Amino acid sequence: MAVVDTLREIRERVESELAAISSSAELDTLRVKVLGKKGELTALLKGMGQVAPEDRPKVGAQINEVRQWLTEKMDEAQSRIQAAEREAAIKAETIDVTEPRALPKVGSAHPITLVMDELIECFTGMGFDVMEGPEVELDHYNFELMNLPKNHPARDAQDTFYMDDNIVLRTHTSPMQARAMLTRPLPIRIICPGRVYRADEVDATHSPVFHQMEGLVIDEHVKMSDLRGTLEAFAKKLYGEGTTTRFRPSFFPFTEPSAEVDMTCVACHGKGCSICKGTGWIEVLGSGMVHPHVLEMCGIDSTKYSGFAFGIGLERIAMQRYGIRDMRLLYEGDARLFSQLR
Ligand code: PHE
Repeated sequence: MAVVDTLREIRERVESELAAISSSAELDTLRVKVLGKKGELTALLKGMGQVAPEDRPKVGAQINEVRQWLTEKMDEAQSRIQAAEREAAIKAETIDVTEPRALPKVGSAHPITLVMDELIECFTGMGFDVMEGPEVELDHYNFELMNLPKNHPARDAQDTFYMDDNIVLRTHTSPMQARAMLTRPLPIRIICPGRVYRADEVDATHSPVFHQMEGLVIDEHVKMSDLRGTLEAFAKKLYGEGTTTRFRPSFFPFTEPSAEVDMTCVACHGKGCSICKGTGWIEVLGSGMVHPHVLEMCGIDSTKYSGFAFGIGLERIAMQRYGIRDMRLLYEGDARLFSQLR
């Protein structure tokens, strides 16, 4: 076959093959096959010996012309293929932000935390500072400065875990009263939330670890009516405007007089129901006027200063608030329970 015919054949074949090619790899193979060192065009050049000497310049020029044409066609095909490949890659990487997906499980705050936060907000709103202290406490602060000397019978009700004779797991947040009075300038207005411990058997209403929030106010001329007004405001904030408080005489070694404070039952609004056992009242906290002896032991002049204190059980409020009947549920960590309370 004459070189011209071979050239035409190659041209036509390559042109139709190029039209069908869709990947860079196929294009490379074709390029090597036609234009490569061992390719068809190179073979033609090498076969120039067989061409009559006078025809060689013309045939050489024809081959080069075709080589250039093929090179251009292949470059064009290359840009087309690369553009298509880039587009396909972008399409494959596109993230559909509207596509629904499984959401990660979000945790929720523990009911005790929820109640604690709510109480902190309520009391800081009335001007109280938050103060925290150690759960492993000196007997001195937990008992002695709270007017519970060694062998005092009232210690029986607060049996605890002893590290040694002088170090205990605190049985209440009241040692924070002593710590505050000994370290803070007067007047004092603090709340102390935290974990407390008692050697109690676990049942539906008892746990050896539970939570309290202590409140303490010391200033000149602090009266029982200030305690009452503060707790009345707290009751309304906690359970709504219709709520009121009832003070019942009680005993705590570190307060005199002492009172157990009830609030209008949240469930029946005072009518009487199973939650308040028909009384219309629920017991919420212990309180009283700081005992002068406690003030003196903590270096405060009891003829000039007076104060009140209260201690709120957080478990009880959480249980009432969320209708949890068994305290153990609070510590079992069942996410199905907590996720309902957000
Ligand atoms: N600390 C007492 C208790 O745990 C509660 C309390 C605090 C009572 C402050 C009066 C004043 O039972």
